Formats: sequence, structure tokens, C-alpha cells
Amino acid sequence: MQDYHDFLAEVLISEEQIAFRVAELGAQISRDYRDGNLVLVCILRGGVLFLTDLMRKIDVPMAVEFMAVSSYGAGKRESTGQARITLDLNIDIRDLDVLVVEDIIDSGFTLASVLEVLSTRKPKSLYICTLLDKAERREVEVPVRYSGFVIPNKFVFGYGLDIDEYYRNLPFIGVVDLAHYKPEA
Ligand code: IMP
Ligand code: MG
Repeated sequence: MQDYHDFLAEVLISEEQIAFRVAELGAQISRDYRDGNLVLVCILRGGVLFLTDLMRKIDVPMAVEFMAVSSYGAGKRESTGQARITLDLNIDIRDLDVLVVEDIIDSGFTLASVLEVLSTRKPKSLYICTLLDKAERREVEVPVRYSGFVIPNKFVFGYGLDIDEYYRNLPFIGVVDLAHYKPEA
């Protein structure tokens, strides 16, 4: 695989900036869910780094569950409508306070599908906590209660976010220079 330095246009959000904001979000969530029955639902795989840092900053009782979805669509870097659940929750969320933890919201289609499914199971509350929000790209409204950073319409990677499934491990959020990124043949 290519070294990311070859196509890193800029570091958009540093490791330190992420840590600071994640701590703020954790504190806010802890205040808001003090009297709740909180379950974080992490969307695999992009939400994993955010989840594990965020949950360490939450100091109220909470459970964690995982879900995986695959988006249908033509382009590999854009979703177009329906998402299919490929891994479902292990618990019944009825009457629980569900907070969906996601890496990024772009069009909103992925999370809209997830929320549609989860809402039929009658949780007490159902909201979204996303690290990144490409707000200007939104095509369908979703109830974002917590958002780490609103970012411009650029393709980003690192801290959970992938380019063709790689580079999720980087501790910062970088912008891809697509002219210098060479996909594997
Ligand atoms: P949406 O359904 O258009 O909101 O797209 C959400 C999904 O697209 C995310 O869960 C990511 O997997 C992916 N995605 C959107 N923008 C980016 C990006 O800039 N970098 C990496 N993945 C992205
Ligand atoms: Mg992805």
C-alpha cells in the first residue's frame, strides 16, 4: 500500500484537537444521560476509534453495541440511498436511550436507514453522535444531537475513516489529494 504521505493534502484535525473535542462530547453526554439508560450503538467499522475514545470520557452507566451496514451505490466513495444491515444488535433496545456513534455523516442516507430500523424497536430515545459532519452535503435530515466537527466537502481519512479500507489507524483526520492517491490495481 502507498505511504499516506504521498497523498496527504493537509491534516484537517490533529490528534490533540480530536482528543479535546471528544472529552467535551463525553462530558456533555454524561450530563445529558445522567438519569437515562444509555446504550451506545457503534457503526462499524469507521466509528470504532471514536467510540473507544468517547466511552472512556463518559462517566454514567452505559452499554455498548455494534452494528454494521453496507451501502448500495455506484461510486465507492458515495452512498446512494438504501443501506443493508450486515451485523445487527445483540440486545433488545426497547425503552433504552440509544445513541448511535458514527464517524461521519455525508448525504445522511446511511444513518437515515439505520435510524428507520432502530426506531421500529421502540427505544425510549434515539439520537446520533457523529465525529464529523459534512453538513453542506446533507440530502436527508437526521437527528444529530452531538457533532464533533463540521467539515468542508473534502474526502478525509484516518481516525477510523478509510480510503478503500486502509488508513483507518492514523490518529489524525487528513484530507486526501486524489491526484496523488493510486488505488491498488
Ligand atoms: P452517507 O450515507 O452519505 O451519510 O455516508 C456516510 C458514510 O460514507 C460514512 O459512514 C463513511 O463510511 C463514508 N464516507 C463519507 N465521507 C467520507 C470521507 O470523507 N472519508 C471516508 N469515508 C467517508
Ligand atoms: Mg467507509
